[in-house]
Amino acid sequence: MAPDLFVRRARPQDAAAISHLNNTFANEGQMLERSPEVIALAIDDYVVVQNLAGELLACGALKEYSPSVAEVAAIAVSRDAHGKGLGRAIVSAVEELARKRGIYDVFALTLQPDFFAAIGYQRVDRARYPEKIRRDCLGCARRFACNEICFAKNLMAEAEIGRAA
Ligand SMILES: CC(C)(COP(=O)(O)OP(=O)(O)OC[C@H]1O[C@@H](n2cnc3c(N)ncnc32)[C@H](O)[C@@H]1OP(=O)(O)O)[C@@H](O)C(=O)NCCC(=O)NCCS
Repeated sequence: MAPDLFVRRARPQDAAAISHLNNTFANEGQMLERSPEVIALAIDDYVVVQNLAGELLACGALKEYSPSVAEVAAIAVSRDAHGKGLGRAIVSAVEELARKRGIYDVFALTLQPDFFAAIGYQRVDRARYPEKIRRDCLGCARRFACNEICFAKNLMAEAEIGRAA
């Protein structure tokens, strides 16, 4: 990632910019729409990438489903900044948030399987996450035509591999 960019936890005043970035892709059917109000209520779960001018270029969130399982959700990188490592950086920051909260089993439901495969996630059956299915999928209008693919990463195993290397 370029040296003039940095990753940080989101603040309440970021909610409108996060919503704008998220909904650019939501309008194209690539992710769920999220209003500034909904984001503000969960602002402690968001991380962002910002440039020196204060512009938000990427965002992502950790959505907890149980004390040990969470979703890497709402990952979006400003179109002009694609392909420069911001997606990888924002997922890494969401994973860091998960570790701080003692959560090591993270997953994503995504239309971008190649991105998640490139950053070390394994394709898994979504049935592994019944909490997600119960809370979100059962009430979703696209539940019988969902083409999102489930990817997961075990952050504990990753830390152990890092220590052994
Ligand atoms: C998917 C998205 C987050 C990727 O962000 P990015 O900043 O362009 O990704 P990075 O530059 O960090 O790429 C990391 C790796 O993923 C790969 N990658 C990124 N997007 C990819 C794609 N669409 N298809 C295949 N590989 C992809 C890169 O080649 C790179 O691999 P490498 O390190 O082996 O070279 C971005 O395209 C985006 O915001 N898309 C719209 C919103 C969206 O679909 N979000 C996902 C919702 S779950």
